[in-house]
Amino acid sequence: MKERFTILGIETSCDETALAVLEADGGFKAPRFHIRENLVASQADLHAPFGGVVPNLAKREHRKALGFLHKKLGSLTRDVDVIAVTVGPGLEPCLWEGIEFTKKCVRELGKPVVAVNHMEGHLASVLLTGAHAIAFPALALLVSGGHTELVRATQWLRYDVVGKTLDDAVGEAFDKVGRLLGLPYPGGPNVSRLAAEARAHHTKSAFSFPVPMSKSSSLDFSFSGLKTAVLYALKKNPDLDKAEVARAFEDAAVESLILKTMKAVVSERPETIIVGGGVAANQYLRARLPEELSKKGIGTPVLYPDPAFTGDNAAMIAAAAYFHALRGDFALPAHLEAQGRLSIGEKKR
Ligand code: KG4
Ligand code: ZN
Repeated sequence: MKERFTILGIETSCDETALAVLEADGGFKAPRFHIRENLVASQADLHAPFGGVVPNLAKREHRKALGFLHKKLGSLTRDVDVIAVTVGPGLEPCLWEGIEFTKKCVRELGKPVVAVNHMEGHLASVLLTGAHAIAFPALALLVSGGHTELVRATQWLRYDVVGKTLDDAVGEAFDKVGRLLGLPYPGGPNVSRLAAEARAHHTKSAFSFPVPMSKSSSLDFSFSGLKTAVLYALKKNPDLDKAEVARAFEDAAVESLILKTMKAVVSERPETIIVGGGVAANQYLRARLPEELSKKGIGTPVLYPDPAFTGDNAAMIAAAAYFHALRGDFALPAHLEAQGRLSIGEKKR
């Protein structure tokens, strides 16, 4: 069986246009990746004045950026033997730009295509640095601007969703709170920076917000109530210290992630815990999860993506595609379709 592939990754699901060329080897048992090129063009500045991603602006920008990133890849594409494209979940007008570009690449290179789920990319992002033979079953906490879910992976390509948000994604809540605090878009990293400042100044927090879903026995999340609690607190007292608000919000949001992850660790007994997605960059979450595991005497290893690969990128899309390529799981280019609400697996619990 062929185990060595050079994969062109294409990612346009939200506001990052990304292309990557990845060399993959080692098979299912010991996947190894070498990144030949990893290009990301962020549209954050373009959408910042609107406080969020404007789909049609994003679509136009993806088209432009794909053109210049493709030029930048230059002769690297000559070595490619598989093309991988994100087909969902995400903003459909944006996904279509990636798909149209993929069809052009197929005409040029004549190589097979893998249709990739964006969340599968976030899950595989932990493999991009270092050598990781993942012990299965694994439990993945996938936290981004559009998703918050707990996923059971019995092996590569076999995923079940065991918990997910009933309303807002945690990254979305960070961004909305950022807006309430008058911080620039995207709010997530800025809210977290302010919260860290508050923690550095005062060991005890000035006040707290209730931890979402703490009374529910399910593995589901909910963040819209927490965002509303922040809104009302600021309305009631506009002079509240912003850093303390950011801290109280981050405390409650991260505690909720920890609470449900710990619950899933107990019920699923995973051999590995994986954290992926934009919010996996959150330093407080990265510190709290191992702390909680060791408090409970649980030695399950936790893998995080390198900070360079927490946000959207095409290297992770190519990495996820590797497992499909090993299986010969290719898509007909004419059948490629944007699937805005594509899920990584069935909800099973
Ligand atoms: O995975 P990602 O790049 O895009 C989506 O697939 O949505 O995630 C972006 C999200 C945004 O909501 C952003 O604010 C959030 O990740 N984020 C953070 C941090 N860095 C990025 N949230 C909290 N703390 C951070 N340090
Ligand atoms: Zn993402």
